[in-house]
Amino acid sequence: MRDNDFDIKNPKKKFKKTERVPPKGYDCANDFFEEMYLDKEMIWMGQNTNHLHGDIIADAMIEAIKKKEYCKYPAPEGFSELKQLILEDLGFEDLEVLLTAGATESLYLCMQALLEPEDNVILSDPGYFIIGDFANRFANDVRYVPVYYDECNYKLTPELLKENMDENTRMVILIDPLNPLGSSYTEDELKEFGEIAKENDLYLIHDVTYKDFARQHFHMENYAPGQTLTIYSFSKIFGMAGLRIGGVISSKPIIDALKNAVVNDLGVNIIAQYGAIAGLKSKDQWMDEIREISFENQRLIKEMVDPIEGVFLPVYPSDANMMAVDLYGAGINPKDMANYLIEKKLFTREGEYTSEEFGDRYLRISFSIPTEEIKVFCEEFPKAVEALRTK
Ligand SMILES: Cc1ncc(COP(=O)(O)O)c(C=O)c1O
Repeated sequence: MRDNDFDIKNPKKKFKKTERVPPKGYDCANDFFEEMYLDKEMIWMGQNTNHLHGDIIADAMIEAIKKKEYCKYPAPEGFSELKQLILEDLGFEDLEVLLTAGATESLYLCMQALLEPEDNVILSDPGYFIIGDFANRFANDVRYVPVYYDECNYKLTPELLKENMDENTRMVILIDPLNPLGSSYTEDELKEFGEIAKENDLYLIHDVTYKDFARQHFHMENYAPGQTLTIYSFSKIFGMAGLRIGGVISSKPIIDALKNAVVNDLGVNIIAQYGAIAGLKSKDQWMDEIREISFENQRLIKEMVDPIEGVFLPVYPSDANMMAVDLYGAGINPKDMANYLIEKKLFTREGEYTSEEFGDRYLRISFSIPTEEIKVFCEEFPKAVEALRTK
């Protein structure tokens, strides 16, 4: 006999997930995203995606599609060439790459394979909460450390880590640069995190999804080898979010542990792999231009925001392709701002998506889009502030 709680038609929810209220006027979040996606006039500043690429990656994928490469299953662990190119991009040697459907799947595998029920995990708030949701499924606790403060430069510091960890802390998540703020780590900070990790047997998840937008970037792997897992995505600088390809890079024993947890046993999308190879091989041809446009776009946003009373950019320059715009001093609820801007065909994200504690303060905007579109934002945003201002 099953226990009394058993109900075949209403299965018990085994896992916790951060519940979010669907946007106003929508039954569920998917309906909202689908409508945004299908609106071809919408300016896309809500997902930190990159809309600045030419045809190099697209052409490689089209060629693979025309040859019907997709009829066959890919090799289960992906093309060796692609894995080697990822290692070269990171400047790593003697490490293993596990390819997955986006960095997201890698993050899930890390949590599933490495966490035990008594463990706790440290993540910053603001942060990318899907990671916390995954960790919550396998660990006892996720400790969200508040970092939306000038004093800590809007990021988790080694001191904050020490204050918040205990003997059950097993994993620290460093998103570098940080979604949503664009703050990033210095080499010295990474060294300190490395020391703490070595002394306390911690795994360090170094999520470098936005690394190529940063002015400078350093690798955790160099300071805590054997304990670091580097999370890699093709969604941002490569502009391939819809293709769902990414990976995790670490030492062989750690990757072997992750491989035992793999769900996608028949491999990663083959067309995405061809696109990723073309992207990595051609990076020198397009990366500087994408970075320059992104820097110029955030400069235009800064120039527009600075004179607005009650509104400011907590982190500038951002080392990612997105930034937070703090609206608190103007008495504006970021949700109202996001809804208002959608009416103007500007898709942005309210802070709630990336912070429990500070989500009512800021709007997140991404700016790796054509400068013409940024100019539309810069024209509409000050008008929106004046229309919604309560202070
Ligand atoms: C920090 C971080 N990691 C991972 C992801 C997801 O990456 P992917 O599209 O490769 O799954 C995101 C997406 O916004 C992110 O912000």
